[in-house]
Amino acid sequence: MDGMNTGIEVKRLAGSLGAEIKGLDLAGASYDNVFPALYQAFLDHEVIVLRGQDLSPDQLVDLSKKFGPLEAHVLKQFNMEENPEVLLISNVKKDGKPIGAIYAGQYWHSDLSYMKHPTQGSFLHSKQIPSYGGDTMFCSMTRAYDDLSEPMKAFLGGLTATHDYTNAYDTFFAHLPDRPPLTDEEKAKVPPVVHPVVRTHPETGRKALFVNAGFTRRINELTHAESRRVLDFLFEHCTQPHYIYRHHWAVGDLLIWDNRSTCHRAVADYDMSEDRHLIRTSVAGDVPH
Ligand code: OGA
Ligand code: MN
Repeated sequence: MDGMNTGIEVKRLAGSLGAEIKGLDLAGASYDNVFPALYQAFLDHEVIVLRGQDLSPDQLVDLSKKFGPLEAHVLKQFNMEENPEVLLISNVKKDGKPIGAIYAGQYWHSDLSYMKHPTQGSFLHSKQIPSYGGDTMFCSMTRAYDDLSEPMKAFLGGLTATHDYTNAYDTFFAHLPDRPPLTDEEKAKVPPVVHPVVRTHPETGRKALFVNAGFTRRINELTHAESRRVLDFLFEHCTQPHYIYRHHWAVGDLLIWDNRSTCHRAVADYDMSEDRHLIRTSVAGDVPH
């Protein structure tokens, strides 16, 4: 597909989302001429996979900036010292402490949905991968929305939800070592925010569910009991197998996903004595509406 015009080949990987981009060496010659096709594939397929890449942190930053201005994560201790725009997702330890975000994203989430401006695109590039396990799953929040009934769409269309980073700490990190609670200073940077339950993608115009188990605390207009059950229904609905692309990592993979149309979850089934080390950038997004 498109091979003649752009020099890249786009191969769909799953029914609802995900495509592999072939024939592109991002560290090699300038790829400016193929950038529009690459960006269109990102919008169309929601997650794109480029294998066999070997990007330095600076090269990853340069590529990511073509998508938009970058944002740094609230957890500054996991940003690379020599390049604070790059976050380390890593279980590698130095002096007994993880050098990067350990247990990152082991619950369904959309990156930084707890910020006023949640992430647009995330870039994750693998440097060390365990011998088995450690996959990342993605689900299409546009397909999941499309399949809801019209009355359900109308109901959800009038609702807003509160997102809060501390939700992940209360429900998930609380019982895990190596992820100490947020400091008061960190907490001050992530007050709860309110987003619509259904958002419209600013570039494709597609509607998507915008709630996730990691960061969404409640639906504001409903009672506590209603909110809990509606959220649980939505979380179960959008993570059905037919909405998922599951990525099995090899060293050199670069994944770019659109947080406006997907959620993702790290699968925590690998041997923690094996290194899993990835470098990561995020492009700042707009206010969901
Ligand atoms: C992330 C993330 C998942 C993984 O980088 O935002 O959620 O599998 N990572 O490492
Ligand atoms: Mn994530």
